[in-house]
Amino acid sequence: MKIQSEQYQISKVQQDQRKLFVYWDDGHRSTFHYIWLRDNCYCSVCGDPRHGEKRFRIIDVPLDIKPLSVSCDSGNTLEIVWEPDSHKSIYNAQWLRQHCYSATEREHRQHRPILWDSNIVTNLPQIDYEEVQSADKSRLQLLEHLRDYGICFLRNVPPQKGELESFAQSFGPLLETNYGRVFEIVVDPEESQKSVANSQIDLIPHTDDAYQYAPPGIIFFHCLMANNDSSGQSTFVDGFKIAEVLRQEDGDAFDLLCRYEVSYQKYYSDRIDMRFSSPVFSLDSGGNLQEVRISNLFPAPLDLPEEAIEPFYIAYRKLMQLYTDPRYCLKQGLQPGELVMFNNHRVLHGRTAIGIQNQRRHLRYCSVDRDYFESWRRLLDRNLNFQE
Ligand SMILES: [Fe+2]
Repeated sequence: MKIQSEQYQISKVQQDQRKLFVYWDDGHRSTFHYIWLRDNCYCSVCGDPRHGEKRFRIIDVPLDIKPLSVSCDSGNTLEIVWEPDSHKSIYNAQWLRQHCYSATEREHRQHRPILWDSNIVTNLPQIDYEEVQSADKSRLQLLEHLRDYGICFLRNVPPQKGELESFAQSFGPLLETNYGRVFEIVVDPEESQKSVANSQIDLIPHTDDAYQYAPPGIIFFHCLMANNDSSGQSTFVDGFKIAEVLRQEDGDAFDLLCRYEVSYQKYYSDRIDMRFSSPVFSLDSGGNLQEVRISNLFPAPLDLPEEAIEPFYIAYRKLMQLYTDPRYCLKQGLQPGELVMFNNHRVLHGRTAIGIQNQRRHLRYCSVDRDYFESWRRLLDRNLNFQE
């Protein structure tokens, strides 16, 4: 059996009418409601213990269910026999501790992203491509960079067509978008009628496809060719950083951007009319940032209550001042053999203008859902950091 390096032991348990109190050897006390414990029985009657699939239904027991007996002989397992049918549940102590829902443990489990600004240029999250291909440890590091910074650069990637697809597919299926599965970002006056990415103009930092219900998750840019001047540099902004700056500097503006939806649209009369509205910042119930959606490239008219229009524009202008401020912008001229991956639900990307005489730049673009990256990170973490 795999054992996590940090082991907790149960010192004693106490009961009241509705809850069980578990005292741990490190002094922590957990409270588990009986209804929660009964709901989380993973025996073979209640479900499939291997995959956590459930057959038990919460409406099949009373809300005030109680134990007939509770025992915790070794400190490593807790055994409960339930009223009225003597159903027996066994809980592993480590599992219980990992799922303790006290305020301190929930806070402890909360992931804290590493916020960054333009200074990240001196300490970029980056990894050698060959290492990621050959060692799970490096692959895990890449996934942790994506989780912590929302971005990671890969060096020494063969600058050939096909490399991007095979690498991206090693994480999960490529997303099919209205640009296809792989999009060639080159200067092309004809294609620029369909996408600003194929134009030469500078692109304000944005998250992609804000007009979609589910925008792409992790975006890949693979550079095959670069301009031989400093034009057409890629720009990146940490959306979580500017959100926290705004929250600190102007809480009212931040609240407005969490509360009201901005509308987006992508429209070509002959083939597409996509629309979506969403707040700029999405938070979880604890006020932690979950998602950022910012695009000045595909706006639709704001559709807000009359009294919100002026305050909202004040907040929206402050937001734009932040994400166009060079202090928060990482500027990188990608070179052939470089690949960058970033979380489109956190990191904004853009581009400086491309010179008239200089149109060699060729990036290839694709994306994969975020779920696959989080899934791989958990699997690799478990395989590498838990011992037999
Ligand atoms: Fe874009």
